[in-house]
Amino acid sequence: MRTPVVLVTGANGEIGQALIERLSDAGDIGVLAFDLNPLPDALAARCVATITGDILDERLLQRMVSEYAVQQVFHLAALLSTRAEYTPDAAHRVNVGGTLRLLALAAEQARRDAHAVRFIFPSSIAIYGLPDVATKAAAGRVAEGDYNAPTTMYGCNKLYCEHLGRYYMRHFGQLNARFEPSGVDFRALRFPGLISAVTVPSGGTSDFVPEMLHAAAAGSPYACFVPEEARLPFMAMPDAVDALLGLAAAPREALSQHVYNVGSFSESAASFRERVLRAFPDAEVTYAVDRARTGIVDTWPADVDDSPARRDWGWDPRYGVESAFSDYLLPQLRTA
Ligand SMILES: NC(=O)c1ccc[n+]([C@@H]2O[C@H](COP(=O)([O-])OP(=O)(O)OC[C@H]3O[C@@H](n4cnc5c(N)ncnc54)[C@H](O)[C@@H]3O)[C@@H](O)[C@H]2O)c1
Repeated sequence: MRTPVVLVTGANGEIGQALIERLSDAGDIGVLAFDLNPLPDALAARCVATITGDILDERLLQRMVSEYAVQQVFHLAALLSTRAEYTPDAAHRVNVGGTLRLLALAAEQARRDAHAVRFIFPSSIAIYGLPDVATKAAAGRVAEGDYNAPTTMYGCNKLYCEHLGRYYMRHFGQLNARFEPSGVDFRALRFPGLISAVTVPSGGTSDFVPEMLHAAAAGSPYACFVPEEARLPFMAMPDAVDALLGLAAAPREALSQHVYNVGSFSESAASFRERVLRAFPDAEVTYAVDRARTGIVDTWPADVDDSPARRDWGWDPRYGVESAFSDYLLPQLRTA
């Protein structure tokens, strides 16, 4: 008998660590954690097993499915936007090749165990590509079908993987003599920038807000790499985990699309800086604008229209910007 598990790839990352806590607290099914790097001991203890290695390592994947029946996948492993731009070939290999391999694995598992495998995929606002700042300002809250013209390798990878997921769910094997759906139940979320009170991000283009905050809490100076007017949507990490779990739990028939925007709040770098200075009056936050990274931020929407997620599966974030600071970020940062 293979042990039934929910597979979390990229388990050691910012989202993975927070997600594993919640999945193991719920205790519905054992967590199998997969990451290039070993998990901290306390987190590993919450999992049925941990696998340290590359999601592109075929032998490792084969060994995994010989021992475990994968019933659900949270496929988080990826190279993030800034890192992907410096190493586009590697990003394509991991972000696209890894996702394709895991979709195939989910289809194999569904066939072998004769039940659908839910496949939850964190996409990103990086799949949008607004042509200029004037269009960005005029566009306001962007809907899923708008401006799907990413300008980064990461955005291209994510948008293509959304299509691969839809393809696996609806069309995979369509020319077979007897066409049967693959059993992959694919669901994607387009996350905004995420802010965790516990972990500091690396390799993302929306990192200026969490970096600013964590530097201030640590008493270190910080130079923000975008100008004060730069604006992106953001979300507190507990809401990001709620979104993943909420979409995963939604009944299939409630879902009218395969990919959903999820939003919480949108502010400029200057307003975040003001909030950080109010919380940490001695903090030193300056600007050292990186034109190239700002160029990428300028192509991402200032805010997203998440009304389909609210309507279809009850998306309703716990935190606005005020409460994200007062009830989640600051209490945890001050006691860290
Ligand atoms: N954090 C954000 O603001 C944000 C926003 C939108 C989407 N996302 C997406 O959410 C997911 C998780 O993001 P995160 O913030 O936790 O990122 P992260 O960089 O903190 O974590 C990614 C994890 O994936 C692992 N990984 C990378 N390549 C791997 C490979 N080949 N094999 C196995 N593991 C590998 C890394 O070791 C790391 O632990 C990613 O897919 C990311 O694109 C994140």
